[in-house]
Amino acid sequence: MSETEIRKLIGIAIEQLKFSYVPYSGFRVGAALLTKDGKIYGGCNIENASYTPTNCAERTAFFKAVSEGEREFRAICIVGGKDGILTKYASPCGVCRQVMMEFCDPETFQIILATGEEHYDIFTLQELLPQGFGPQDLA
Ligand code: THU
Repeated sequence: MSETEIRKLIGIAIEQLKFSYVPYSGFRVGAALLTKDGKIYGGCNIENASYTPTNCAERTAFFKAVSEGEREFRAICIVGGKDGILTKYASPCGVCRQVMMEFCDPETFQIILATGEEHYDIFTLQELLPQGFGPQDLA
């Protein structure tokens, strides 16, 4: 991925923070999901008074994309922090890693964790979910 593409994804993920619905934690998370053909779907976290129905930003982005017919993905950028202040990486939770495993090749799918357009690190899904269980295991 080019530096320009990465910065664009980070910018879109940061924009999503304003949509986060976080009355309980105050922890805002934004995501930007890039499809194989270059479309970008944003996502924010959406909390719930009953707590467990809370949806993470990453899953919001995936479910928006999948529900519009997308099935192939290249990368996701994730940003987050208390009150939307980005001091350290917001790493995807286990459930979100498993959702990525359903639709992405763990060896090539890129997960960009950022605290700003200038500061980021890129991991593969394989690195964040080693020995993951996915569709291939049921084939
Ligand atoms: N959260 C995400 O949106 N993504 C993650 O991968 C980790 C956690 C959200 C869920 C909840 O709204 C808040 O962060 C605190 O857990």
